[in-house]
Amino acid sequence: MTWLITGGAGFIGSHVVKAMAEGGERIVVLDDLSTGRAERLPDGVPLEVGTVLDRDVVDRVLAEHAVTGIVHIAGKKQVAESVAKPLHYYRENVEGLRTLLEAAADAGVARFLFSSSAAVYGMPDVDLVTEATPCAPINPYGETKLAGEWLVTATGRTHGMATASLRYFNVAGAATPELGDDGVFNLVPMVFERLTAGEQPLVFGDDYPTPDGTCIRDYIHVEDIASAHVAAARRLAADPTASLVLNIGRGEGVSVTEMVGLIQDVTGRTDIKPHVTDRRPGDPARVVASADRIREELGWSARHGVREMVESAWAGWRLRHP
Ligand code: WQD
Repeated sequence: MTWLITGGAGFIGSHVVKAMAEGGERIVVLDDLSTGRAERLPDGVPLEVGTVLDRDVVDRVLAEHAVTGIVHIAGKKQVAESVAKPLHYYRENVEGLRTLLEAAADAGVARFLFSSSAAVYGMPDVDLVTEATPCAPINPYGETKLAGEWLVTATGRTHGMATASLRYFNVAGAATPELGDDGVFNLVPMVFERLTAGEQPLVFGDDYPTPDGTCIRDYIHVEDIASAHVAAARRLAADPTASLVLNIGRGEGVSVTEMVGLIQDVTGRTDIKPHVTDRRPGDPARVVASADRIREELGWSARHGVREMVESAWAGWRLRHP
């Protein structure tokens, strides 16, 4: 097989490229370099610079590289920006995917793996979120991911494609310092950002109905996200009728306070006194995955814990901010 990895020069994409290349898969990357960087790619992996919205570019790349499977990671992923610019998010995430799927169907590409998100669940009122938990996204970003899943499943059914939508929970860490999470607006890098600026980290609310009052999430190492893609790609290659929707999480809840405590530990900064501010609108108290289905379907489970996520993210941060 030859896999096209869209968004392969980005934070998550470059980890997937690395893992798939190390797993012996033949790969080509399509990235518009809007947030990606060519230096993230290992030697020998061809990079085509362009957008999935450009049907001519996609057709040419599929044909020239004789692509037989697609891992679609390219997309916009900032919740607040999606609230401000819904049309932009629908264009990039839904129209981009639709264009890519149409090109794939026309070219006879029969394997399609899609980056989805726990954001499809919205504010789930359950202890562990299973894939059967109702989807009710609460922002345009989550809506575009859910609409994307529908497009992928429907196209797979009609055009005989094996498909998988992978719902990432809270991604953190880095495989190497060079592949660190710059430009990613999530809790861990946001805390590093404040510390680097000589400011105390912000905690968005400590009056949630959780044991320490701060929000609980299921953090997952980006290397584990990557290995889940390798497992899913192999499954799609072996099973032309696969139609999968899978959580990628660890099933372990970690609070913001616990995460900040770990950061204090790992960085050796004893002067951290988080500044508690108002709740951030739209933050659910608790979102933790059930990782049962992916273990049953792919025999996959996460290997790295939260400390390794913080340690590896910190190594990357220090490289960029010596
Ligand atoms: C985690 C927790 C914050 C920063 C969203 C999307 C998800 C995925 C990742 C994209 C929350 C708290 C954060 C800070 C804080 N999106 N926090 N201080 O909101 O769980 O998930 O981004 O790919 O789909 O929904 O992630 O990292 O922003 O926040 O207290 O400076 O940390 O309130 O409870 P979130 P996050």
